Amino acid sequence: MGEGIVFPSLFLLHERCSVRGGSGRTNREDSDVDGHQKEVESGQRFRFGDNWARFLYVLNERRIAMAEESLKQMLGVENLVGKTFVDVGSGSGLFSLAARRLHARVHSFDYDPLSVACTGELRRRYFPDDHDWLVEEGSALDSGYLSRLGTFDVVYSWGVLHHTGDMWSALQNVRRLVAQNGLLFVAIYNDQGLLSKYWKSVKRLYNRNWVGRLTMGAVHLPYLYFLRALVRALSGKRDLDRGMDLWRDALDWLGGFPFEVAKPEQVFDFFCDRDFVLRRLKTCQGRMGCNEFVFSRNSNEGL
Ligand SMILES: C[S@@+](CC[C@H](N)C(=O)[O-])C[C@H]1O[C@@H](n2cnc3c(N)ncnc32)[C@H](O)[C@@H]1O
Repeated sequence: MGEGIVFPSLFLLHERCSVRGGSGRTNREDSDVDGHQKEVESGQRFRFGDNWARFLYVLNERRIAMAEESLKQMLGVENLVGKTFVDVGSGSGLFSLAARRLHARVHSFDYDPLSVACTGELRRRYFPDDHDWLVEEGSALDSGYLSRLGTFDVVYSWGVLHHTGDMWSALQNVRRLVAQNGLLFVAIYNDQGLLSKYWKSVKRLYNRNWVGRLTMGAVHLPYLYFLRALVRALSGKRDLDRGMDLWRDALDWLGGFPFEVAKPEQVFDFFCDRDFVLRRLKTCQGRMGCNEFVFSRNSNEGL
């Protein structure tokens, strides 16, 4: 379906989602929906879904193929035939789509109603009326909700749990979603000490009000976007990893709040102490960004 057709439907979803959870199923009480809205209004939470809604306009086949490739590479598989896949904090829905295209049965959820709508939009666009892809609202901090989901062969949560407001509880919660011999793929912001504290203050100011957004944007976007765009143009490297978009990525970094970080060894110890084995690790080499981990649950067999 052409991208031009998506515009009005996404706009409508945006309108609906600002009130209630859009095209996805809703598992939360009204008070929880209000909770999200209140967090945003009080400057405690970035509107991730807004950013993802705009990302959908630049989504194309090349980006989807890159997302698929990133899953295949990190999970060490050629496809996900016969596997169940839960996308915790699905955002745009790109990785749920990638997993579905690799033939997994997919369950997507997100805390931000507009992210849920984006994922619903991709389902509508690429897999309409598909019974093997469920999209709904839910939180990685809601252990009651998670316990009703059961377990999955692949639990995917990329760049999410450090934005929940309680990262270690969220890590503990998603661990329970992994089936025996299943895989857990998480990406968590790297702890850079003082620099991470600096970024936390920047993000807090960015989310406070329009003055914060304007000043933090003016100070940081020249580096986060323009310099990186220039370097990429000069080196001939057109695409970001995982099919992401540089501008959306820069805004996500600048605004992404709540914000927590961990050193790679902290995440490693956390899961190894809980019967998980590290299968694959991709660090951001001490720089800002995410460290990526694939763990398997208590078995040498993997998928
Ligand atoms: C940076 S985006 C990452 C999206 C996607 N996983 C990806 O890799 O592109 C973070 C997402 O986490 C979601 N999120 C934040 N807190 C959450 C929570 N408690 N439960 C589920 N999703 C949450 C946000 O709404 C947002 O869509």
